[in-house]
Amino acid sequence: MEIPKGCELAAPNPFSLLIFGATGDLAQKKLLPALYQLGFHSLLPEQFFILGAARRKLSVERFREETRAAVQSAFPAEFEEQKWRMLAEKIHYSPIEDNLVSSCNSLLADCATLEKKFGTRQNRLFYLAVPPAAFEPLISGIGESGLKREGSGYTHIVIEKPHGHDFESARRLTGLLGRYFRQDQIYFMDHYLAKETVQNILMFRFANSIFEPLWNNRFIDHIQITVAETVGIEKRSQYYERAGVLRDMFQNHLLQLLTLIAMEPPSVFEAEKVRDEKAKVLASVKPFPLAQGIINDWAVVGQYGPGTVDGRQVAGYRDEPGVSPASTVATYAALKVMVDNWRWNGVPFYLRSGKRLARRRAGISVHFRPAPHLMFAGALEGNILPNTLTLRIQPHEGIDLFFQTKLPGSRLCLNPVIMDFSYPEPFALDDYARILLDAMQADQMLFVRADAVEKSWELLTPLIDKIESGVRPEDFPNYAAGSEGPAAADALLAKDGRKWDPL
Ligand code: BG6
Repeated sequence: MEIPKGCELAAPNPFSLLIFGATGDLAQKKLLPALYQLGFHSLLPEQFFILGAARRKLSVERFREETRAAVQSAFPAEFEEQKWRMLAEKIHYSPIEDNLVSSCNSLLADCATLEKKFGTRQNRLFYLAVPPAAFEPLISGIGESGLKREGSGYTHIVIEKPHGHDFESARRLTGLLGRYFRQDQIYFMDHYLAKETVQNILMFRFANSIFEPLWNNRFIDHIQITVAETVGIEKRSQYYERAGVLRDMFQNHLLQLLTLIAMEPPSVFEAEKVRDEKAKVLASVKPFPLAQGIINDWAVVGQYGPGTVDGRQVAGYRDEPGVSPASTVATYAALKVMVDNWRWNGVPFYLRSGKRLARRRAGISVHFRPAPHLMFAGALEGNILPNTLTLRIQPHEGIDLFFQTKLPGSRLCLNPVIMDFSYPEPFALDDYARILLDAMQADQMLFVRADAVEKSWELLTPLIDKIESGVRPEDFPNYAAGSEGPAAADALLAKDGRKWDPL
């Protein structure tokens, strides 16, 4: 797709990027390949450098070699030796020790030397790609050392998820960050916000006039938000056994999608204004009525057993390496969420996400109310299905609108059809490339603000606690890998006379 002049992404100003956890999976599989992709698309300035920091004692050469292999495996088709070499000479590495304050001070010394060499004007971006337990000591280390001291340029800090484990720890995290950084320096990252199709939600809603008048409880029956995955937990049992699907996917990605689909139009399209409106949605979500003890009317959880995914036999969750054989960690959840405000009163938002499901599919479907009077009902067999608008996040990115037409040639017969807009593929930068670019350009639109981080945890923590204290080992597994999820999730919607969209 041709990008018109003025709409293209632009390379940022000179910068230095300090990646903490640079030898870990995230940095190697996502961040460093994303930097290569930025370079490949001429979206890096002449002057920049990357300083990797991690506990492993590696030489710069060894770090570059490992990074090269990671980039090559992430972008085999786009890998070009000459482009790699241009990036490689900007990549440096410094090991860090147990004493984080003194490690950060020696990183500062390295950084200052490299800043002179590469002329990066003290524009510093710190990226915390470390395990959750390392966030707090590292933030204190950065804050207490000279590394945080602002020079003539900017200092931004990007925090990978998970942003806490519960409400209390999230508050501690935001509080600690607030002690050393201003809000405009803190970038809570949620890679879903960088997906083109997720960015498109607001454009679609607010740049068109025909949908917004219908976007309320008078015309919408309910909304489904689905993020289904076919992958299992890969090699992340240590993290996942503590997190589970509600912390891993709902506190961030699913609730962020909910805010975008439900928010009011801001007066201008600016990061703070958009984030204000998103915060208002979270503040309007009705707390789950846990005291009434009818949790199954609001939430269903599941865990996958063995099964077949994409024609391949796969193990159940409890047989994954590093997982307890009696684990009660949920790999699937479905929630019914009510947004208690003027626009959405009475419209349920059904959210679901799970691992090892039948298909990989993420999307939002807006189910409209049936026509107020079905004058064809007597003459036609079966139900006349109401209109549905589906925003397809991935794969097969696009939008479709389901509606009824007359079946041509019939006497009186309806023909349900789908009007389909599909994005051309491949169509955009990797999510992480976009995240990095925006953090370097001080654009916080695609990042979560601290109040939203806290509010999401405030909503989910009591529910998670209740679920975790109630699940017994014999309740799981309750869905087979490769299926559409647990039967109880279907029952959740059936009680309301509704059905999930097929995966
Ligand atoms: C991450 C979760 O945030 O998102 C993973 O930690 C999940 O468990 C991933 O697999 C899904 O992202 P995507 O972009 O592949 O849909």
